[in-house]
Amino acid sequence: MSAYLDNAATSCPKPEPVYQAVERFMREVGATPGRGGHRREEEAASIADEARAALAELFHAPEPNGVAFTMNATQAINMALKGLLKPGDHVITSSIEHNAIWRPLKALEQRGVAVTAVPCARDGLLDPADVEAAIRPETRLIAMLHASNVLGTILPVAEIGALAQRRGIPFLLDAAQTAGACPIDMGSMKIDLLAFAGHKGLFGPHGTGGLVVDPGIVLDTWVEGGSGTESAPVTMPEKLPMRLEAGTQNAGGIAGLLAGVSFVLEQGVEKIRQHELELTALLIEELCNAPGLTVLGPDDVSQRTAVISVTIEGYVPEQLAVVLDQVFDIATRAGLHCAPQAHLTAGTLKVGALRFSPGYFNTSDEIREAADALKSIL
Ligand SMILES: Cc1ncc(COP(=O)(O)O)c(C=O)c1O
Repeated sequence: MSAYLDNAATSCPKPEPVYQAVERFMREVGATPGRGGHRREEEAASIADEARAALAELFHAPEPNGVAFTMNATQAINMALKGLLKPGDHVITSSIEHNAIWRPLKALEQRGVAVTAVPCARDGLLDPADVEAAIRPETRLIAMLHASNVLGTILPVAEIGALAQRRGIPFLLDAAQTAGACPIDMGSMKIDLLAFAGHKGLFGPHGTGGLVVDPGIVLDTWVEGGSGTESAPVTMPEKLPMRLEAGTQNAGGIAGLLAGVSFVLEQGVEKIRQHELELTALLIEELCNAPGLTVLGPDDVSQRTAVISVTIEGYVPEQLAVVLDQVFDIATRAGLHCAPQAHLTAGTLKVGALRFSPGYFNTSDEIREAADALKSIL
């Protein structure tokens, strides 16, 4: 018996072409986009451009050049928040954010940016009217996650995007948990800035992620350095993506990410979501009668991603995760999941929770085995 149920942290395994693409890139291409006047450099650049095009297609982004690569979602979020917000500005977020948004906002607060965290219900659900009510004349940004990595709750992004646009406020979406796993349409959801992780639902390697920037948004740079082209000026180029990509990028990782995104496009996000939702519903059904067990997040499975966090009276989540791992070879994640705000909202800040996060490659049998393993421990 064994199962990897920690896909909300990083997906594993990856589709076979991802491993092949990384190996091929490292062995046969090896060069860095924009650095070199030779065919290997041209191939590296065209792989990165193909990856931008695939991501733009997946997210219905205005243009591929708006996709700037980063190491992860956290860097993309920092790039957006710190590139946009100035002292005196106001930003609206939610009460269930990951530290990837929460900590940079708290740092910005120290520098004179006002922050409002709109309260979500215990299950993470958020009323867009509360977001609208929080708007002030100096509100410069609405920045929120698409889905909670603790509760699985999906926020009403299209409604929030529409109201942000109506009020002339840019909208930054943290799609770390949903890119590749839920449909995202930057156009119809009125998303101006989209931060994504490459290593989760997009099946890329670690060290991949990015920020998709609408051409109408100009961000101050947060890192300056070599941009490959336009080297003479002392400032970073105006043009995207070079403006936001200082220094040598993770070109091998991006080759793997291209293979991962291509896999998502081939399978189709709806099919991936359907499978993950079936596994989610199955796990909840298998666990719901376990003594003292509470499933966090919304009851309605269609309002969730494939994240099932539970608390169990009388048990410490970390200890359960250790026994699941060491006795049953089942990988889960326990604790606060880098999201104390979500646990505060759910009332689980003191104990944390045990999180199962199935992915596209998990099977119903693995889910049943995981549920049986947990019940046998209890
Ligand atoms: C909702 C959310 N936002 C941001 C992040 C940060 O992603 P990364 O580790 O790629 O920076 C995560 C990671 O778990 C997440 O779940």
